[in-house]
Amino acid sequence: MKVLITGATGMLGCDLCREFSASGEVAGLARGKREAKQYRASELLAADITDRDGLARAVRKLKPDLVINAAALADVDFCELNPEDAFRVNAEGAKNVADAAEEAGALFIQIGTDYVFDGEKGSAYTEDDSPDPVSVYGLSKLAADDYVRSNIGKYAIIRSSWMFGSCGKNFVDSVVETAKKGGRIRAVGEKSGNPTYTLDLAKAVSGLSAKIMQGKAPSGIYNISNEGVCSRYELAREIADLCGLKADIVSITAKEAGGTALRPKLSALDHLKINKVLGYELRHYREALKDYLKTRKRR
Ligand SMILES: NC(=O)c1ccc[n+]([C@@H]2O[C@H](COP(=O)([O-])OP(=O)(O)OC[C@H]3O[C@@H](n4cnc5c(N)ncnc54)[C@H](OP(=O)(O)O)[C@@H]3O)[C@@H](O)[C@H]2O)c1
Repeated sequence: MKVLITGATGMLGCDLCREFSASGEVAGLARGKREAKQYRASELLAADITDRDGLARAVRKLKPDLVINAAALADVDFCELNPEDAFRVNAEGAKNVADAAEEAGALFIQIGTDYVFDGEKGSAYTEDDSPDPVSVYGLSKLAADDYVRSNIGKYAIIRSSWMFGSCGKNFVDSVVETAKKGGRIRAVGEKSGNPTYTLDLAKAVSGLSAKIMQGKAPSGIYNISNEGVCSRYELAREIADLCGLKADIVSITAKEAGGTALRPKLSALDHLKINKVLGYELRHYREALKDYLKTRKRR
C-alpha cells in the first residue's frame, strides 16, 4: 500500500509517517526538502498544499492508495490574526489535497479538530453534534470538513484534540522545561478537553483507514483522542507529579493567558463510534503521558 502524508514535518504528521511505514511505502509531503529518514518516510516530496497544480502533479506521479492531510496552520492565535492565511491553508489547501486524492482514487483522511465546537454543550461531543466554532482556526477547519463531506467519495474526517508528541513543540515539554528551571507555570484552569498522544492517534488512524479500505467501516466523521478530560492547569500538575518535580503552578483564566482567539470551554470528544470500529478504547491520557515522559527522558 502506498500512503501520502502531508504535514510530514509536523508533530502529528511525523508520527503518522512512523506508524504507516511499518506496513507500507510512505511518502511524506512538506514545504521544504528535509531528510526523509528523520520522518521515517520512504521519500519526502516538496510541495505546498496551497499550490493546487503542483500538488496534483505530485499526487498523480505517486499514485497513492491513501492520502492523509495533516498539514495545517495549527496555531490558533496566529489564525485569528491572519484569517486569510488560515483559510488559504486550512480550507483551500485541504480542498486541494482532497481533490488530488479523489482524482487518484485514494481514500482521503482529513485531520480535524475539537475546536469546531463552541464548548458550551456541557458534555462530550459526538460526531452528530452541530459544530459552531468560536475562532477563525475552527471556522477554517470546519470549511475543510464541510467540503470533504460534500465532495469526496471515500473519506474520513478525524476530529482530535490537544496533542503532544515527540516531533513538535507542545505543552507537556514546556511544563517540564519551566518546572526544571524553577519557573512559575501559569496554565488555564477553566477550559477542558482530551489530551492526545500523537503516537496513539497515529495507530488509531492506521486501524481506521484499514477498516474503511476493507469495507468494514463507512466514510464519515470519527472522533479520536485519548480517554480522560482535564484542564491545562490539571495537566500541568500531573506532568510535574509524574516527573517528581516541585513546581509552582497557578491556575489562570483564558483572559489572563492573553491569547487572541477564543477557545471552547469543554471540547471533550465522545469515543463510542471509533471504539466500536477499532474494537478497543484508546488508553487514558495519563498512561500515554507516562510513556511520552519516559521517551522524552531518553531523547
Ligand atoms: N496540535 C494540536 O493540539 C491539534 C489539536 C487538534 C487538531 N489538530 C490538527 O492536527 C493536524 C496536525 O497538527 P500538528 O499539531 O501536527 O501541526 P504542526 O506541528 O504545526 O504541523 C503542521 C504541518 O503542516 C505543514 N504545513 C503548514 N502549511 C503548509 C502548506 N501551505 N503546505 C504544506 N505543508 C504545510 C507544516 O510544514 P512546515 O514545517 O513547512 O511549516 C507542518 O509540517 C492539523 O490538521 C491540526 O489542525 C492539532
